[in-house]
Amino acid sequence: MKVLAPLLVVLALSVQRSCSAGDDLIYGYECQQSRCVKVELDAQNFQKAISLPVCRLFCGDGVPGTIWPRPSGLVNFDNYMLTVDPDNIQFILPTLSKQAHLWAASKERFMQMLYAGVPNKNILKKGGRPLIVTVELQSTLDDVVPKLTLDTDESYTLQISSSNNSAATATITASNYFGARHGLETLSQVLIYDDIRRELQILARADIDDRPAFKWRGLLLDTSRNFFSVKSIKRTLDAMAVVKLNTFHWHITDSHSFPLEVKSQPELYKLGAYSPRKVYSHEDIADIVEYGRVRGIRVMPEFDAPAHVGEGWQHKDMIACFNAQPWKNYCVEPPCGQFDPTVEDLYPILEDIYREMFELFDPDVFHMGGDEVSVDCWNSSKRIQDWMLQKGWGLKESDFIRLWGHFQTEALNRVDTVAHSQQPSITLWTSRLTDVPYIDDYLDKERYNIQIWTTGGDSKIKDILKRGYRIIISNYDALYFDCGGPGWVQGGNNWCSPYIGWQKVYDNDLDNIAGDYKSQVLGAEAAIWSEQIDEHTLDSRFWPRASALAERLWSNPKQSWRSAEARMLYHRQRLSELDIGAESMQPEWCLQNENQCPIDAYDRKF
Ligand SMILES: *[C@@H]1O[C@H](CO)[C@@H](O)[C@H](O)[C@H]1NC(C)=O
Ligand SMILES: *[C@@H]1O[C@H](CO)[C@@H](O)[C@H](O)[C@H]1NC(C)=O
Repeated sequence: MKVLAPLLVVLALSVQRSCSAGDDLIYGYECQQSRCVKVELDAQNFQKAISLPVCRLFCGDGVPGTIWPRPSGLVNFDNYMLTVDPDNIQFILPTLSKQAHLWAASKERFMQMLYAGVPNKNILKKGGRPLIVTVELQSTLDDVVPKLTLDTDESYTLQISSSNNSAATATITASNYFGARHGLETLSQVLIYDDIRRELQILARADIDDRPAFKWRGLLLDTSRNFFSVKSIKRTLDAMAVVKLNTFHWHITDSHSFPLEVKSQPELYKLGAYSPRKVYSHEDIADIVEYGRVRGIRVMPEFDAPAHVGEGWQHKDMIACFNAQPWKNYCVEPPCGQFDPTVEDLYPILEDIYREMFELFDPDVFHMGGDEVSVDCWNSSKRIQDWMLQKGWGLKESDFIRLWGHFQTEALNRVDTVAHSQQPSITLWTSRLTDVPYIDDYLDKERYNIQIWTTGGDSKIKDILKRGYRIIISNYDALYFDCGGPGWVQGGNNWCSPYIGWQKVYDNDLDNIAGDYKSQVLGAEAAIWSEQIDEHTLDSRFWPRASALAERLWSNPKQSWRSAEARMLYHRQRLSELDIGAESMQPEWCLQNENQCPIDAYDRKF
């Protein structure tokens, strides 16, 4: 990777028009020794002073400082801005008919983001250059609705130029919709509102070559412990798109509630949802899947089993230890519940659930859960004990793992029956089943990816990698965003406290975790388990921390969070402008007075 940028920061606006800032504007910025310094505006410095976004664009460390995540390839740009005519932004987009709706939605989103930073459209100056945004796809052979898979090439290039005095042109090239869409996000981050001159400006010339370091860049949301409205899920997808995260892992059901409409098994959600209003209908899900596709995001469903089931199933007589008390003896949190794998009638119902999930989500990777099975729960059932003894098994732990293996094999057969593609890739959580020696007995490495949720330093990770499995990393000591806060089954703080700061998320180096097996790391996910979070506090839990993960996964930076801090503060402001309730990280004063807050600022060379 080589990043080129002019050393001399010469700031100029190639289009100078009569300067008439509002009377209320007092401050502008100047780039001094590679940082943006706030200056009072007066008649002398007015021509030279620039707005904060323009200053941040140029006054950085080799990449335009308004871009998040940092591009991973070659970046080359000039320190000039052009004024763009807001009424004359044109798009030349691919004309594939099956993609027309995606491009229309992307264009609309681009314009919305453009105006998000403008406090009031009426004060925006008219005039300036037309902007022509051209998207060119290298492979236009198949006119199909694009689907993100593990083979999708998400790279793109962005070139901005303005060789003569007419239009500014921005050209994005990519091999498919998803890469091109990322290019539009980057473009929107170098197209800014200048509050001194009250106009839109764009970098006059830039060449950006960009691609993700990791294929799987995700967030997990649990919608069972607490329900989340479709609106709040869409808001999450909006923010994910800004930072090029590409996987929304939807942990839809659990033992607490069953908010998924299953038309062939209506009792599940009628009994299992918190209320009739707290159900995701098929229309809701189709809407969310499509909303994700537009934003370059796969919506991957998880149906967690055989543990983490309960509400909705109570009339079916196929759940062991449902709401058993004291719960601590049978599960990790109330209410307990696990499938009884010995009940033959269970599997056709699972097939119904899987069938509808595959119809709705068409997932390239399916998540079958598989975490936190309690042997004591199964062993509390006489029916299960009898079944095992009848087969000539014992009642040792290894026999119960064999029972689990039986469940997993049967359930997987049902997935394969309904899956559209031949044998979709399956993900399971780390558990007793993924421990040595059981993992070798029950889980085929060609079929299963393992999602790690132990600590990043756990030696079990190497055991799994050594065997050739591909992994997704969600080590709870860095990527469980529900950590921190009061306990809810006892006093004190919750189990994985303390709260994890964005800095730790940023520095959670996947290469370190994987050691010699880097190529088997598909990527990572940050998780929100929702016992103590609902839609009112969702945004501040995910954001801006999920952006720190996004840069780790897209750019895989060598530098620590410290080098990204100023950019992060700027980026967090952009999220706020887009109506994402991102948590505040520092006084706004620190955003306006770059590098005056960190304690080590004076040890650094500028
Ligand atoms: C620049 O001007 C030439 C000739 O006037 C024209 O053909 C060309 O399209 C222009 N380029 C851009 C980027 O507008
Ligand atoms: C299961 O319960 C039986 C008693 O019913 C006991 O002997 C056995 O050790 C238990 N198995 C495990 C793995 O705890």
